[in-house]
Amino acid sequence: MDDPVVYLNGEFLPLNQARVSVLDRGFLFGDGVYEVIPIYGGRPLRLDEHLRRLEDSLRSIRMDSPLSRAEWAALIGRLIEGPGDQSVYLQVTRGAGPKRDHAIPKETKPTVFAMCSPILPVPVVGVSAITLDDIRWRWCNIKAITLLPNVLLRQEAVDRGCAEAILVREGYVTEGTASNVFAVIDGVIVTPPKGGELLPGITRDLVLELACAAGLPAQERRIALEQFANAEEIWITSSTREVLPVVELDGRPVGLGVPGRVWERVAALYQDFKQRLRTEAAV
Ligand code: PDD
Repeated sequence: MDDPVVYLNGEFLPLNQARVSVLDRGFLFGDGVYEVIPIYGGRPLRLDEHLRRLEDSLRSIRMDSPLSRAEWAALIGRLIEGPGDQSVYLQVTRGAGPKRDHAIPKETKPTVFAMCSPILPVPVVGVSAITLDDIRWRWCNIKAITLLPNVLLRQEAVDRGCAEAILVREGYVTEGTASNVFAVIDGVIVTPPKGGELLPGITRDLVLELACAAGLPAQERRIALEQFANAEEIWITSSTREVLPVVELDGRPVGLGVPGRVWERVAALYQDFKQRLRTEAAV
C-alpha cells in the first residue's frame, strides 16, 4: 500500500511515478473539480449520483466530462483494492495552458487523476465542533478543488481540538468544511436546503431518504445558529465520515453530551444500507 497504483490520463501507474505539468491549471489556479466515492465490499455507494454530481460540477466550470459513465465505472473498478472499506478520489482539472493566464485557453486537454485510499473506522463516541463564519464563495454546490477557505477553517477547528468547523452565513448554518450538517430540533431531523451555499452531499441525500423511509420526521429548511446551538442532536455527514454525531459545540454539550437516540436509529439504517451494498447486487 506504500506505493499504490493510481490512474493518470489513461494510464495506471505507481503513485510515485505520477506527474503533472507545473502549468496545469489545477496547480496554478485550483481550476478543477473532484469527487470522493465510498466503496464497500468492492461496490461503490451511489455511483450514479456521484458521477452525476461530477458532471454537474464540470458543467458549472464550462467543462465536459472527459469520460463516459461506463468509462468512469471501469476505471474505478480497476483501482479498487480488495473487499475492505475504501474511497476513490477522482479529480479533473482543466489541464495545462500555454502560459499562466486566468482566462480559459481555447484548447486544453483535461488532467484526469484517480486514486483509492482506505476508509478509516468512524468514531462512535461523537466529536467536538466549533462554529465559524462561512467565508467561502457563493457556488459551494460545485465540488471544486479550490479549497483554501475549507483548509483554513478546518485547521482552526483542529487547532481548537475539534473535528470539524460548522459554517454560519448571515446567521444560518450552511455545512461543515468537508461535511453536511443535520440537527434534531423538537424531534424533527432538519438539514439546510440545497443551493449555492452548500455541497449537495450524497450522504446527506441518503440519510434523508433512509430517515423518511423509516417514518422519521425530516425537513429541509434553514437553521438559525441560535436554534442549531440548542438542538437536541447535531450530526455531520460525508462519504468518509458517514453519519457522525457532534456531542460538543463551541465548548457546550449538545443535548446530553452523548450521541443521541435519533442518531442511533439513523446510523443503524446507514450501516444496514452499507451491509446490503456489500452483500447484494444492487442497492
Ligand atoms: N467532502 N460539504 C463539503 C464542503 C464537502 O467537502 C463534503 C464531502 C460534503 C459531503 O458530501 P458527500 O456526502 O457527498 O461526501 C459536504 C469529501 C468527503 C472530501 O472533500 O474529502
